[in-house]
Order: sequence, then structure tokens, then C-alpha cells
Amino acid sequence: MQLNGAQVATETEQLQPTRGEMRHAPSVETPAIEDIAAPQSQNSVALPAALPDPWHVMRQVEITGLNERRSRLPLVDFFRSSPTARAFDLLRTRMLHSLRAHGWKRVAICGPTPGCGASFTAANLALSLARVPNSRTVLMDMNLRNPGIARALGLERSALYNGDMLGFLRGETRLEEHLVAASDRLALGLNSSTFHNAAEVLHETRCAAIIDDVVARTRADVALFDLPPVLHNDDVAAFLPQVDGVLLVSDGSQTTARHLKACEKMLAGHTQLLGVVLNRARSEDEFSGGS
Ligand SMILES: Nc1ncnc2c1ncn2[C@@H]1O[C@H](COP(=O)(O)OP(=O)(O)OP(=O)(O)O)[C@@H](O)[C@H]1O
Ligand SMILES: [Mg+2]
Repeated sequence: MQLNGAQVATETEQLQPTRGEMRHAPSVETPAIEDIAAPQSQNSVALPAALPDPWHVMRQVEITGLNERRSRLPLVDFFRSSPTARAFDLLRTRMLHSLRAHGWKRVAICGPTPGCGASFTAANLALSLARVPNSRTVLMDMNLRNPGIARALGLERSALYNGDMLGFLRGETRLEEHLVAASDRLALGLNSSTFHNAAEVLHETRCAAIIDDVVARTRADVALFDLPPVLHNDDVAAFLPQVDGVLLVSDGSQTTARHLKACEKMLAGHTQLLGVVLNRARSEDEFSGGS
């Protein structure tokens, strides 16, 4: 599948966990009916009014500047009939089946090494998910060292978003101020600053609570987290407890079997490998040196 001299192929058959036992969705204890109906106590405290749906108060951003970038930024929304767009739609559909079957929502997207196309995949997958009617997708840029989502979506020059992801994860910014809505189906948590002690922040219990809050309050069906490369630092390892599974983006021009094995080893026992996306796949002609 050719796109601006690059290709994307998805190994959708690998979307099922490839290794180990399937993790079961956490069991929730259902309270007995009488527990719900019975008054809690004589001195019961009134609950605070429900917070407004953050989607209604977030700033809106328009994913713009795409026409002028057509030649260099392969966003599938602008190539709806291309094989790449179809590959992302297929990836979306397979991933949704897998997530729904297990009650999962949170997906980390990362490559083994830098530049494999993790941010490219995360942005395009989010756009594809956002075309599902009556759905909500949140895309968070958790690459605190080398953020890429605003750039991938052509938003890097927009003044409308708060790019201080670090401050957000430290509880300094409210969810409504940090997240922006690209549509009524897609919210973005963007980052524009770099920070080199990222693993320590991603590891904190406060970060875990904030991610829980994002998923709960946005009522997201799917939350995608764009992460740095697995083999480059320990950021992915630090963030794994916050996700249900990982989508690994391999790059046909640089990823080796050894890289994939090392990633599998790192993820083993910590999370599900939901699938491996083969980005920049080389055509058979290239392999055979053909015409
Ligand atoms: N299939 C593709 N076709 C064309 N360009 C692509 C493709 N995949 C990635 N790119 C481009 O390659 C560059 C690197 O991709 P991207 O930023 O997604 O990689 P990454 O894995 O997120 O890198 P990092 O490790 O730095 O976060 C970007 O300019 C992106 O637009
Ligand atoms: Mg990236």
C-alpha cells in the first residue's frame, strides 16, 4: 500500500493476544438490591452535584492545515479511499472487537525504537475511531521526551491547546483545561514540552489517578496513549499498569526480529500485546529486486 512513498500494512491476524493467558476483565462486585434501596444512615451526607460533562466545556480545536500538508503528512482522513485508510479502518475494527470482548479501553501505542511510526499510527487510529457513530475516543500524548501528536495532527502551531502534559499529570491543570475536543467524538491531551525524567512522573500514583479520571469523566470508549519507544528508556514500563494492552508499531525499514523479541520479553507478564502493526512495509518487488 503506497502513500507518499511510504507504506502501511497491518498484521490484523495478530490482534489477539499472542502470548500467555488472556487477562480477564476485573470482576465487579454487584451490590445486592437491598443495599441500594436501604437508607445508608440516619445522618447521610448529600453527594455533591455531578460534575458537568467535560466534553461540553473543553476548548475546541480544528484539525486544520491538512490540505497544505497533504504531500508530507499522511493522515487517513484526507485519503479516505486509499489502502492506508482501509488498513487503519480494519485495524480499528479488529481492535474494537478485541477491546469489547474483554471490557478493555486503554491502549498504549509504541514502537521498539525511535521513529517507527507510533505517533503516526496513534493519530490515524484515533481519527478512524472517531468516525464510529456515538463513540468517544481520547488520544493522549504520553511521550514526554519527544511529543508527536500535535505535529502529526497539524496542530503544533495552534494556540488553543494547553501543551503542559507534565503539569496535567502532576495535578496542576484541570482536565477541562488540558483536554481539547477535535470533534464530539475525539478529545486530545496534547504535549508541547519535553521532560527527561518522564518515567518517574509516569510511575507516580497521582499520574495513575489522573488517567483513571480522564477515562471515567470523558466516558471514553477507547483511550489511546502515544508512548516513547519501548527499548529506548523505561517510560513504557512505568506506564504499563495504566493500560489494558499494547499495540506495537514495527517499521519495515528498521525493526528486526530481535527488536520484537526484546519488546515481547519486556511486556510479558505485565500487559497484553494486542497486535503488531507493520508500518512502512516493503513490497514484494523490493524484496525480490523486481521491476
Ligand atoms: N507510513 C508512513 N508514511 C509516511 N510517513 C510516515 C509513515 N510512518 C511514519 N511516517 C513519518 O515518519 C516520521 C516519524 O514517525 P512518528 O513520529 O510517528 O514516529 P514515532 O515512532 O512516534 O517516533 P518517536 O520515537 O520519535 O516518538 C514522521 O514524520 C511521520 O509522519
Ligand atoms: Mg512519537
